[in-house]
Amino acid sequence: PRIWAVLPAAGRGTRFGGEVPKQYLEAAGKTLIAHALDALLSHPRVDGAMVALAADDLRWPGWTSRHGKPLLRCTGGGERADSVLAALRALPGDVDEDALVLVHDAARPNLRAADLNRLIDVASAHADGAILGAPVRDTLKRADADARIVATEPRSALWRAFTPQAFRRGALTSALERARAEGVLVTDEAMAMERTGAHPALVEGREDNLKVTTPADLALAEYLLARLTE
Ligand code: C5P
Repeated sequence: PRIWAVLPAAGRGTRFGGEVPKQYLEAAGKTLIAHALDALLSHPRVDGAMVALAADDLRWPGWTSRHGKPLLRCTGGGERADSVLAALRALPGDVDEDALVLVHDAARPNLRAADLNRLIDVASAHADGAILGAPVRDTLKRADADARIVATEPRSALWRAFTPQAFRRGALTSALERARAEGVLVTDEAMAMERTGAHPALVEGREDNLKVTTPADLALAEYLLARLTE
């Protein structure tokens, strides 16, 4: 079956501050979304990519292919999950129900080929799909509304969820449709799958596959991308 990348890029980046949506911030000479797309489309096993853009996006450079592969666009929605669902529905007809889709944040520029390769291997072998992540390394505190500690959470079973997150197109589409119908806001694709009873696999990836959310993250991304030699 085929493998397509799906990039939700319809966010306004309001947490970052500033007027440029974060996927269009530049680091090491390219926008974050260009880094994300290049990491995916330069991989030999990825067949194409679909980006979900805001309806009023004037910054998209109009690319229709990259690395010799199709790069398609569609209009995203109000929440990340709405943008992903719009992209899944807009995929070409020859991307069948069993095709693997790799959902990847447009603002996550430092994905390495080795991580992507292992993710594709695990997801291909696992019916419930797989995501990149990393075990939690800090001690975790539960707090009350006044930022007073009320408990220390055992961290040994806890992971951070990264992207890409890889699922069968049909299964992910149904899971996201169900979450939407039930009015549940899912913050990643795995959460939608979990709610259907699936147990996606966690593939330990590099911690420097960071999502740019703050100006400090952008500085770190710049540092990492400038030294990207694998
Ligand atoms: O805001 P956050 O960091 O969670 O966004 C993750 C990704 O989801 C970003 O690439 C952002 O552009 C995308 N997004 C989207 N549609 C929305 C909100 C976020 O495609 N309505």
